[in-house]
Amino acid sequence: MTTKNVNLVSHPLVQHKLSLMREKDRSIKGFRELLNEIGMLLCYEVTRDLPLEMVDIETPLQPMKAPQIAGKKLTFAPILRAGVGFLDGMLALVPSARVAHIGLYRDPETLQAVEYYFKAPHDLSDRTVVMMDPMLATGNSACAAASLLKARGARDIRFVCLLAAPEGIAHFQKEHSDVPIWTAAVDERLNDHGYILPGLGDAGDRMFGTK
Ligand code: URA
Repeated sequence: MTTKNVNLVSHPLVQHKLSLMREKDRSIKGFRELLNEIGMLLCYEVTRDLPLEMVDIETPLQPMKAPQIAGKKLTFAPILRAGVGFLDGMLALVPSARVAHIGLYRDPETLQAVEYYFKAPHDLSDRTVVMMDPMLATGNSACAAASLLKARGARDIRFVCLLAAPEGIAHFQKEHSDVPIWTAAVDERLNDHGYILPGLGDAGDRMFGTK
């Protein structure tokens, strides 16, 4: 597996919270809260290199030039449904971000991504788009989502996940070598049903209490 373009977020807070999420008896409430908190920490990492510009402001004492984030507002693009678990945490740090919703479900037989909803700000060409899904498993959903965003003009896409399988990273990088990945861990492998091992189970089910 190539690790080029994969940013492993090894911050102790992220690693600790991820371990708590993996535990099978973690409550739905706890799982959701942890995903939200990790979303905030991953947002901090994925925005680390955003360009700044100097603008004129006035403190209560005197005018000064101060740095502010330059360019158009960020767009957050959660892949439904589990990607929504990151959204509140990210919006807590960047409240003015736009949001694109990408509705994809995984066909349980073929494991292929099937699109059922897509709604994004109309012009993505000069925005930084942070695509998010907690699990990068086969890579089918992430590949389809990145293609949909590119078809809408997106050129600067970053993909944030919580856990990745080596197979998913390889698949994604083959189709979207221009999209860097941020993940908290790269696990061992996929099982025959496309679940990440050791993983944390079905992120959507654990967030929403479905099964
Ligand atoms: N989606 C999940 O929620 N979990 C996995 O392990 C793989 C895909």
